Amino acid sequence: MIELADWEEDCMNDGQNDKKPGQEESQVSGERLSRFLAHAGVASRRAAEELISAGRVRVNGVAITTQGVRIDPQQDEVKVDGRVIQAVSKHVYVLLNKPVGYVCTAHDPQGRPTVLDLLPDEIRRLRVYPVGRLDIDTSGLLLLTNDGDFALRMAHPRYSTEKRYEALIRGWPTEDIMEALRQGVDILEDDGQLYHTSPAQASIVRRDGRDDCWIGLTIHEGHKRQVRRMLEAVGCPARSLRRINIGPLTLQDLPVGQWRYLTPAELQGLT
Ligand code: URA
Repeated sequence: MIELADWEEDCMNDGQNDKKPGQEESQVSGERLSRFLAHAGVASRRAAEELISAGRVRVNGVAITTQGVRIDPQQDEVKVDGRVIQAVSKHVYVLLNKPVGYVCTAHDPQGRPTVLDLLPDEIRRLRVYPVGRLDIDTSGLLLLTNDGDFALRMAHPRYSTEKRYEALIRGWPTEDIMEALRQGVDILEDDGQLYHTSPAQASIVRRDGRDDCWIGLTIHEGHKRQVRRMLEAVGCPARSLRRINIGPLTLQDLPVGQWRYLTPAELQGLT
C-alpha cells in the first residue's frame, strides 16, 4: 500500500486530477483503491467508495475504511468480502457509429441519451468516455476509450489527426464556394471571436435527389461545430452531417448505433 491521500477527487475524472495541488504527475504513485475496484469491475467508483466505508475491503489483510488510500496493483492484495480482486489493467478502444440525438458526455444534466447508453454494461464499467465530440445532431464515427494518454494524444494539435465529414446541403455549390472551404473561412466562435479555419480538403461527393448534394470535408482541427460553421460561412448550411473517418479509421459497414473494438492494427495506425 502506498499512501493515504487526504483530498477528495471528482469521482468522474478518471483519476486525471488524482494528485495534490502543485504535485507533479510523476510524484503520485499507485492507484486509488476505489478506482482500482471500479476498473476491476467490482462496482462503480461511488459504490466502491461505499464498500470501503463499510469496511468490506482489505488490502494485504488490513481493513481499509478511509477514502484516498493508494495501492500498487502489482504488489498489494486486495480483497472484497474475502474475495481476491484481480487487477484489470485493461484499456479498451471502441469505435461507435453514433446516431443523431445522443450527446457525447458521460452524464447529461438535461437527461438526454448519451453515447454511453449505446454500450453494454461491461464496457461502461471500464469507465470509457468519448475521445472528442460530435454534436447531438451529428452522426458517425466516434471513438471511446478509458486510456487517458491515448485520448490526450488524439486531441493534441501536434498529432492533428485528419477527420473527414460528409454534409448534405441544399443545391449545388459553385467552385468558388468549394475553393473558399479549401482555403479557410472565418467562423464565429462561442466567445464572439472570429477564427480563420486552416486549409481543408473539400469536394462534391454525389448528388442527392434532384436538388441537393453531399460534400466531403476533411479537416485537421476540432473547433466547436466547426464543419457546420464553415458551411454556414459560405452560405450552405448542413442539413445533415456525419463523420466518416478519423485518420485511417473508417465506419466500414457498421450500422448506426452499433459499436466494435478497434483492431490492434487500427490502434497501431493511430498511435
Ligand atoms: N463539426 C461540426 O460542426 N459538428 C460536429 O459534430 C463535428 C464537427
